[in-house]
Amino acid sequence: MDENTITDVDQVRDVLRPDELPEGFVYRMLAGCVLPRPIAWVSTKSAAGVMNLAPFSFFTVASRSPGAVVFSVGPTPDGGIKDTLANVRATGEFVVNIAPSSSMTSVNATGFAYPPDVDEFQACNIADRPSLAVSPPSVADALVSLECRLMQEVAVGSDCLVIGEVVLATAAPGHYRERLHVETSQVLGRMSGPRYVTDMRIESPTSTK
Ligand SMILES: Cc1cc2nc3c(=O)[nH]c(=O)nc-3n(C[C@H](O)[C@H](O)[C@H](O)COP(=O)(O)O)c2cc1C
Repeated sequence: MDENTITDVDQVRDVLRPDELPEGFVYRMLAGCVLPRPIAWVSTKSAAGVMNLAPFSFFTVASRSPGAVVFSVGPTPDGGIKDTLANVRATGEFVVNIAPSSSMTSVNATGFAYPPDVDEFQACNIADRPSLAVSPPSVADALVSLECRLMQEVAVGSDCLVIGEVVLATAAPGHYRERLHVETSQVLGRMSGPRYVTDMRIESPTSTK
């Protein structure tokens, strides 16, 4: 590729240089193209025993052996630490709940900032049930609840990756017995802005070999 080719490419593409963009734009650019994002609906307990629930869409699988997941926590608008991260640091435990699409409104409601002494299960009228291996509760209606112990915290720029080993999983009856995956019609994904995808069309590629 020579210089002219690169110039041509620049002329037909919108070029975004993160260090020249206004604050908040880079986040919107990234969150607007990594789509749809799965949602970790993370339940934790504070050192004082207050239950907490919040959604995180910067979320994926981190390791297959041991089974581990990762989600990313940004700062609060005033540069402080979100309750979820404070609680994970205090207890070393959390549960990643996979919400059904019917819980979209509840998931969204738990994304608002509540003071640390407010139980978000109660505030948002969400039923909990005891977890089996960790002390934070699980969401009663979750498709799957991944009970996790903190493995590692990794600072990445403004955000913090929380990596947890899945020590036990519970699933709503039926989902894992036959197919080892949750029903696609019930999957909830995060789109850009305050928008969600609730019913994805699933296709399989035709093999060319
Ligand atoms: C669907 C959804 C996805 C979100 N994803 C993230 C995320 O990946 N990282 C993050 O820091 N905040 C994310 N948020 C915002 C947090 O949920 C929000 O800051 C929440 O109040 C944190 O609660 P906490 O202080 O109880 O931990 C998301 C909000 C919504 C509604």
